[in-house]
Amino acid sequence: CRILVMISGNGSNLQAVIDSCDSKMPGRVVGVISNKADAYGLIRAHHAEIDTSCVIARKEESRAQYDARLQAAIDRYQPDLIVLAGFMRILSDELVSRYQGKMLNIHPSLLPKYPGLDTHKRAIEAGDSEHGASVHFVIPALDSGPVILQAKVPVFADDTVATLAARVHEQEHAIYPIVVRWFCQGRLKMVDGKAWLDDE
Ligand code: GRF
Repeated sequence: CRILVMISGNGSNLQAVIDSCDSKMPGRVVGVISNKADAYGLIRAHHAEIDTSCVIARKEESRAQYDARLQAAIDRYQPDLIVLAGFMRILSDELVSRYQGKMLNIHPSLLPKYPGLDTHKRAIEAGDSEHGASVHFVIPALDSGPVILQAKVPVFADDTVATLAARVHEQEHAIYPIVVRWFCQGRLKMVDGKAWLDDE
């Protein structure tokens, strides 16, 4: 399974996926695409000797033009699976539709709660007692695709955005590789807009 990871920043989830590509993972990370030239995840990729591409948005460029360049960069890797790992750009419906069923995202909330940004702040402000992360298939509607796996964490009274984010992040690193493995094993599919997992 040829895995392509798309990032914008730190890339700790990228690292978790790279680290999970051991002998039991029927897949390998063949490339990393970033929309930011200074994303730390690019350095992680270099350390792991993984090919990287930067697709930086140009001034005056439309979303369609950017996504056409992004699509070309994606297709050069001929991926079987595209893993969005903190890729902070909204993708056009057209691009998402093209890769539907083979594009995953991780979102730092218990979807369908808190799609979009500032999820930790919103969970604290709402007084939630639990929060977490969700891995889902990507569909054109933002953060709305079928959820595959979630991890829950408690929210404590003295939590700040930073402490809660760190607790969620740790869980992200646990669940994302599990889902990537299921996909690479051919056990996970999106059928009629739902996530299906075959028993082993
Ligand atoms: C994670 O919190 C993920 O849920 C969100 O972006 C963040 C990426 O973190 N989509 P990292 O770059 O993997 O460290």
